[in-house]
Amino acid sequence: MEKIKVVAMTAAHVAELARLEQLCFSEPWSEAGLAAELNNETAFFRVAEDAGGNVLGYVGMHCVAGECYIDNVAVFPQARRRGAASALLADLVAWAKAKECAFVTLEVRPSNTGAIALYEKFGFAEAGRRRRFYRDPEEDGLILTLNL
Ligand SMILES: CC(C)(COP(=O)(O)OP(=O)(O)OC[C@H]1O[C@@H](n2cnc3c(N)ncnc32)[C@H](O)[C@@H]1OP(=O)(O)O)[C@@H](O)C(=O)NCCC(=O)NCCS
Repeated sequence: MEKIKVVAMTAAHVAELARLEQLCFSEPWSEAGLAAELNNETAFFRVAEDAGGNVLGYVGMHCVAGECYIDNVAVFPQARRRGAASALLADLVAWAKAKECAFVTLEVRPSNTGAIALYEKFGFAEAGRRRRFYRDPEEDGLILTLNL
């Protein structure tokens, strides 16, 4: 089994993660937006690396008063289906449990069946919908929540 490390996001990751955002999303986070999270006390941003230190993917979350909101989960196309997102989510859920958070929640496009399958493996369940949440293309946001 390939070794995947999960580490805290640092300034050294930011440019590569902005590139990953561009590859994955129609409204990508910018380098400045990611860098701002380095000094945000409510942010929990973690990066998956291979044994050689290459960035495979990342996850970003904000937690306030025990309520955790995942902003993004993204893995480089060439690194998918190797367990990187699973390693990131396992790390994130373990952290939220250790902090005695009440829940972790996120929005996902209903058409993103791969991501939904990933979240369901971790026990996330549908908790509602946000109408026309996404743009370009427009789509509802499915709210998935994991109660801890
Ligand atoms: C969704 C995403 C983060 C998954 O990352 P990943 O590292 O490939 O995920 P993992 O390898 O940990 O997959 C774990 C499980 O999730 C499910 N899964 C992941 N991607 C899937 C896909 N494309 N189709 C079906 N199931 C999928 C599978 O059950 C998989 O287990 P398996 O490989 O043993 O079958 C990645 O495809 C991605 O970055 N997509 C573009 C960005 C995105 O949509 N992010 C989510 C926004 S809410």
